[in-house]
Amino acid sequence: MLSEKNKELQEKILELKEKENAMILAHFYVDVDIQDIADAIGDSLYLAKVAKEKADNFDYIIEAAAYFMAETAVILNPKKEVYISGLETFCPMARMCPSNIIDEYKRKYPDVPVVLYVNTTAEAKTKADVMCTSSNAINICKKLNNNRILFGPDKNLGLWVKKETNIYIISVPKNGYCYVHNKFSVKDIEKAKSAHPNAIVLAHPECKPDVLEKADIVGSTKIMYDYCKTSLNKEFIIATEKGLADRLNRDFGPDKKFYPLLDSAICKAMKSNTLQNIYEILLKKPKRNRVIIDPEISKKAKIGIDKMFDLTG
Ligand code: 13P
Ligand code: SF4
Repeated sequence: MLSEKNKELQEKILELKEKENAMILAHFYVDVDIQDIADAIGDSLYLAKVAKEKADNFDYIIEAAAYFMAETAVILNPKKEVYISGLETFCPMARMCPSNIIDEYKRKYPDVPVVLYVNTTAEAKTKADVMCTSSNAINICKKLNNNRILFGPDKNLGLWVKKETNIYIISVPKNGYCYVHNKFSVKDIEKAKSAHPNAIVLAHPECKPDVLEKADIVGSTKIMYDYCKTSLNKEFIIATEKGLADRLNRDFGPDKKFYPLLDSAICKAMKSNTLQNIYEILLKKPKRNRVIIDPEISKKAKIGIDKMFDLTG
């Protein structure tokens, strides 16, 4: 339920956003009250696409998401100011893959292409042949036509690609993971299924392989959202960060019911975005919220992102 305070803030933001000609991009994991005032809501690929295609129509971008997603918006729009509406938005998985580790693997496997997940720092991105997201990882890896791929940092996503494509995936680093998804267990799925026997289980590919085995649908947050929107089923178990189930319940409930696999599946980085910070950015663009990347790093990081778009559109 929307609080009176948030309602007031939302109204002020919508008015100011118009005056400022700012574009607000929100990921499914941020608070739903933020999603409600965004120009676009989506997964990391969709938000990158919107940043690439629509930024020219706006004076600046406010990203309510993880830091790496705001960095992607900067990389795609080097001349545009980008602000992030949380102060602790750094994704811990991105920290697991510093660029020197990628260099080590590249030295060891000089002929093997490097595919990196967008959940990485801008500097790590400079080491990739091509970037990917959870919604296009399989396609990107297939398009490389290589029987071995250096893939990082999410080991579970890499294992899923391996299972679906038979490509030999070398994980970089050995054991990168998302703490929100990695904690889901087969027991959690079984418990949710016995409580909701008619529900379809949807899971994000950052979950462990045994959890994905139990899912009916595996895909990015947008793939899950789109599936639930069109499905004739009435009940769904959502194995990802809780924000997606909140969005789905707000958009399609109470007719359809969406059960987060665990209420405790909360990404602290995403939840550090606030309406108050968005309001303050619109009012006075605080320096602390500005996302800046060294232009040389940004230029190099763009190569792998452009290649991703070239390969999959
Ligand atoms: P999506 O691209 O599926 O939204 O995933 C991003 C993410 O950080 C998942 O934890
Ligand atoms: Fe990173 Fe996991 Fe949060 Fe996604 S949910 S931003 S992978 S910590």
